[in-house]
Amino acid sequence: MRLYCNKVTEKYLDKNLELSGWVSKRRDHGGIIFIDLRDYTGIVQLVFNPDNKELFSLAESLRSEDVVTINGSVNKRLEGTINKELATGAIEVIVSDLFILNKSLTPPFSINDDNVNEDQRLQYRYLDMRGQKMQNNLRFRSNLIHCIREFFHSEQFIEIETPILTKTTPEGARDYLVPSRVHHTQFFALPQSPQLFKQTLMIGGIDKYFQIAKCFRDEDLRADRQPEFTQLDVELSFVDEENIIECIEKLFNKIFKDIINFNKNIKFHRMSYKEAMTKYGCDKPDLRNPLVIYDIKSLVQDVEFKVFSDHSNNENSRIVALRVPKADKLSRNDIDNLTNLVKNFGAKGLAYLKCEDVTNLNEGIVSPIKKFLNIDVIKSIIDHVGAKNGDLIFFSADSSEIVNDSMAALIKQLGTQLNLISNEWSFVWVLDYPLFEKDLNGNTTSIHHPFTSPKNYDDLNDDDKYSINSRAYDLILNGNEIGGGSIRIHSREAQMKVFDLLNIGEEEMNQKFGFFLDALSYGCPPHGGIAFGIDRLTMILLGVDSIRETIAFPKTQSASCLMTNAPSNVDESQLKELSIATIKPKA
Ligand code: AMO
Ligand code: AMP
Repeated sequence: MRLYCNKVTEKYLDKNLELSGWVSKRRDHGGIIFIDLRDYTGIVQLVFNPDNKELFSLAESLRSEDVVTINGSVNKRLEGTINKELATGAIEVIVSDLFILNKSLTPPFSINDDNVNEDQRLQYRYLDMRGQKMQNNLRFRSNLIHCIREFFHSEQFIEIETPILTKTTPEGARDYLVPSRVHHTQFFALPQSPQLFKQTLMIGGIDKYFQIAKCFRDEDLRADRQPEFTQLDVELSFVDEENIIECIEKLFNKIFKDIINFNKNIKFHRMSYKEAMTKYGCDKPDLRNPLVIYDIKSLVQDVEFKVFSDHSNNENSRIVALRVPKADKLSRNDIDNLTNLVKNFGAKGLAYLKCEDVTNLNEGIVSPIKKFLNIDVIKSIIDHVGAKNGDLIFFSADSSEIVNDSMAALIKQLGTQLNLISNEWSFVWVLDYPLFEKDLNGNTTSIHHPFTSPKNYDDLNDDDKYSINSRAYDLILNGNEIGGGSIRIHSREAQMKVFDLLNIGEEEMNQKFGFFLDALSYGCPPHGGIAFGIDRLTMILLGVDSIRETIAFPKTQSASCLMTNAPSNVDESQLKELSIATIKPKA
């Protein structure tokens, strides 16, 4: 009988079994050899007795990661040698035949060693993957994808693959380009998402589409970003925001029940973009964390502290206070470290008030900026944020962008550092996004993408384009953006107007999106959709801190693959065929 290692229990006592796997460990014990045999399910102990000399000497030659099949019979372990940690810990297998199917070089690290550096893990991913951690992660991901497919098929969606060699799709990152051999000097772009195709599918009458889609974005990488990642991509016709939200909430209830055994109804909160930015400084609120910021611009108009008074008269600035309850644990050194954290986001400092006794403002408040604030201002701030004895109030005054970015990071850091994050799941739909924002160079960009519908098409004629609201929504899980989407523009005229507001000229419009504008002209139904980052979702559900832990063959932070050494040079002849000449970067 053939069994997986972990399945060999007392149930099979005295039975003859065939087991296959890798040599995890060999121990020679006074004339007896013990081998831990491993497959993906776990470990079982093999025993080689010296009476069979030929077999014994073969067993002596075994080394870590050799691949073997054995025949043997199951024996109860002696009292005192039972290992309760292992499913197979009460038995051992007395080997009668050993077949060495392949030898292994000495591996560069032991499988299941938790202290191997990531570069080495990625270089030898096939060895890393033999360990329990990656096995669990990849199997979890596979179950998740299976559950998603099951859901969408049961809801009458159809799964359609869209092209990888395509035209640019604007999602805000740089494109990966692929030169065409047939069309000299022309390029395909790898899709940043299937956005235009899924909308075209709606024009094609598909009605309900989903796909587990590969996307490619050449952008700065972080722990939750990969250049090549996987989306759950969804689009439906004749729907509004509520239909999509309802469908997705149903999906997540199924995922949580089937995949992580969470049997309660999930609570989905809703928040406007404006409220999220005002209270959390970002559009990814984590409601498990009680910390929020309060605007205090109106309270500090005339104070002596220049940092506050200067910004209080600037309409692009924000001045905020962050009350941290029970912050006595924060030392001077902690505050210095937090100041350095906010400086990474452009903040110039991190002023604070220590509230030792809020009933005695003269002596009970300790702060490096106390001398610049009069008692009435201090009182108004304390009342405004509801500070109590033992609290600390941090301040940030700068351009709105710097205040938002640095306070969002501070809230996150303090939440973890002071153990303030509650042990629950925080789902938030962020709604009512503006359609456009100004980028760092002052150019107009879409907050989502240019195909997002404004609340009303008439709004596109507003004098101030930055005040136009959109029909976009994001879904946030525990402070991470897991998905985003929108109701789309389905009128050619409105789409052209949006391109125009984005300063995309007619020529560029036609060259990049001409086919799509044409498609919109042939009876496009109202439609909308959403896409989720599968890698990111897997990461959060597994509770791991990098997206790379959820991907079989991920890229490094510098977008390369350490196992295959991609990207790499190609033959001159290949370049010639593509009419490409390489220019060496200047030293
Ligand atoms: P968006 O750009 O918000 O929307 O992407 C959807 C989700 O994909 C995930 N994601 C990523 N995951 C890993 N690495 C990356 N580099 C990366 N970039 C994005 C995030 C994100 O929420 N076409 C639209 C969707 C739509 O409008 O329907 C889109 O792609 O979890
Ligand atoms: P300074 O007068 O520069 O020594 O700053 C006094 C205090 O205010 C220090 O605690 C600084 O960290 C803090 N501080 C300086 N600039 C800002 C700012 N833009 N926002 C918040 N705090 C600041």
